[in-house]
Amino acid sequence: MSEDFAVKMTTMNYDKDRPAAENPVKIEDLSLRDGHQSLFATRGRTEDMIPVAEMMDDVGFWAMEVWGGATFDTMHRFLNEDPWERIRTLKRYIKKTPFSMLLRAQNLVGYRNYADDVARPFVDRAAANGMDIFRTFDALNDYRNFETVVPVIKENGMHFQGCICYTMTEPRMGGEVYNIDYYVNKAKDLEAMGADSICIKDMAGLIAPYDAYAIVKALKESVKPPIHLHSHFTSGMSPMSHLKAIEAGVDIIDTVMSPYAYRTSHAAIEPLVMTLIGTNRDTGFDIKHLAGINEIFEKEIMPKYRYLLDDSKMSIIDINVLLHQTPGGMLSNLVNQLREMDALDRIDEVYAELPKVRKDLGQIPLVTPTSQIVGIQTVNNVLFDEGGERYKMITAQVKDLCYGLYGKTAVPINKEVQKKALKGYERGEEPITCRPAEVLEPELDKAKEDTKGLAVDLDDVLIYALYPVTGKKFLNWKYGKEQPPDEVKPRTLEDAKAELEFLKKAKAGKLVEKSAKAAPGKSENVRTFNVFVDDEYFEVGVDSLGGAPVVNYVQPMPGTAPPAYAPPAAAPATPPPAAAKPAAPAAEPPAAAKPVAAVEGTPVTAPMPGMIISYAKNVGDAIEEGDTVLILEAMKMENALPAPASGTIKAINFASGDSVAKGDVLAVIG
Ligand code: CO
Repeated sequence: MSEDFAVKMTTMNYDKDRPAAENPVKIEDLSLRDGHQSLFATRGRTEDMIPVAEMMDDVGFWAMEVWGGATFDTMHRFLNEDPWERIRTLKRYIKKTPFSMLLRAQNLVGYRNYADDVARPFVDRAAANGMDIFRTFDALNDYRNFETVVPVIKENGMHFQGCICYTMTEPRMGGEVYNIDYYVNKAKDLEAMGADSICIKDMAGLIAPYDAYAIVKALKESVKPPIHLHSHFTSGMSPMSHLKAIEAGVDIIDTVMSPYAYRTSHAAIEPLVMTLIGTNRDTGFDIKHLAGINEIFEKEIMPKYRYLLDDSKMSIIDINVLLHQTPGGMLSNLVNQLREMDALDRIDEVYAELPKVRKDLGQIPLVTPTSQIVGIQTVNNVLFDEGGERYKMITAQVKDLCYGLYGKTAVPINKEVQKKALKGYERGEEPITCRPAEVLEPELDKAKEDTKGLAVDLDDVLIYALYPVTGKKFLNWKYGKEQPPDEVKPRTLEDAKAELEFLKKAKAGKLVEKSAKAAPGKSENVRTFNVFVDDEYFEVGVDSLGGAPVVNYVQPMPGTAPPAYAPPAAAPATPPPAAAKPAAPAAEPPAAAKPVAAVEGTPVTAPMPGMIISYAKNVGDAIEEGDTVLILEAMKMENALPAPASGTIKAINFASGDSVAKGDVLAVIG
């Protein structure tokens, strides 16, 4: 055992004789960000955080992670909540414990690099609204992407925590790229940039206990800032890794409250508190106080979110992580995507193609957004490559990566793939070697212009600057210019209970009960929920009559269940936009999707479900075969759909922001 870790073998009374530890392990709680992001697709609402906020403030956490990552996206897109308001609201209840956010460096809280003139005010506003600790990472570990945000964090007097994304190419740490020297050198880079603490960010739960020991030991010997370990449970190794890291002298560990623990989330705090009692690393936390918080979570909050929990498997461990050394959430996203395309039988080809694509793309770490970039391209290769031609449908994001827009890859990108990706690329065919944001045009003035008369302050403008399509939709809801749809409204505990009752009946095969009597008429209070039972799903209308909600109608939906929840995620995997209203696109067979029979010509069909970003052409425009007709976003990746024939655009059947199903006719060329 390391000399840094000592167990006092004493008998003691828990309440009275518990000695204060010489070097207590500090704990960051992630329940209100990574916890619900990992288990409940980031759907936690602010109103469901308030009942425990003050009690959590009293625990003695080093910090609470409450924002960043996917929260910004999910809140405005799916919850009709202003992301900025959450920080201010929670700050009124949590006054002692510092707030931490996950900042994707130049990607901020989005999925691409934003221009410097957006990045700077974003960090300023996050600090002004109440953020204290900026956990900053770059998916490629290219710290040039830190150069804009870090000085702003420092100018605001806030804590800059630099992350090293943990990844590997072998079953254990080592090999030519991601070995111990790699991590030590990255930590030294972060120290030189002024990091106040350094975090090993193991988003996929890949770090093995003895590797955690080796890294923490090496980092403690090489750099001065405190060392922090963030290791997801996914593979089942993290509680062991935590203990070995503690023995090696790690300063801070990330955990969640037990209702938010395990699966793709993190280990729970409670077992760790008991494990360390009587050692020189005792957290000092009161286990009874923690139990009190959990009771509120279990009784008042969790019932509303249970429907989002992926309980399709008995095992809470994703063994794929151990088999494929790939983030669990990434693999489940791939499975969902294949299912949507009716190609689930090709999963083995995807497993075989994935390491090849990753190697072609410079052996990049697999974390948001690179896990999606590699994942979607892999699926595209498996589904669309033909006749010996590789990379037939290259996503816009892979093109950007090949151009250097995400930063420098750990090893060079395959030259042939790079050349193909950059053929006709709008920014140029020669890749850049400078800091990516240097080639980005300023964006803020245009965002201000676009939101004139709608945005009230800079916070509003930034929502739009980060998410133009859904951000604008949200601002219209926020200022009463459009009615928000039912699915973004909060669920009450009563809604949840009625639905759970229904689920129980469905599972017991008692659904026939419903058809025995005629359904009453729907009132205007009826609200629609999608309820998933194994592979089937039902649209359920719940109506509030005289206070008590009753199930008003049940409609089985055809086909397999779309992923209303993305089982999620080491990487912040919010469901694809198309899943926001799964009932609509899936309910219609693709053939009947749009009335296009009147227009003669060659149809441009959706090869996958997704959301229309924009059309490159208008009706009447001439187009050459292979030119881009429109951009379709699927699984957060933008796909430029090429014209299947030359001619004139005869019809455009959707608009920006529309969700489309696979097979929908998006345009017609005649
Ligand atoms: Co995480």
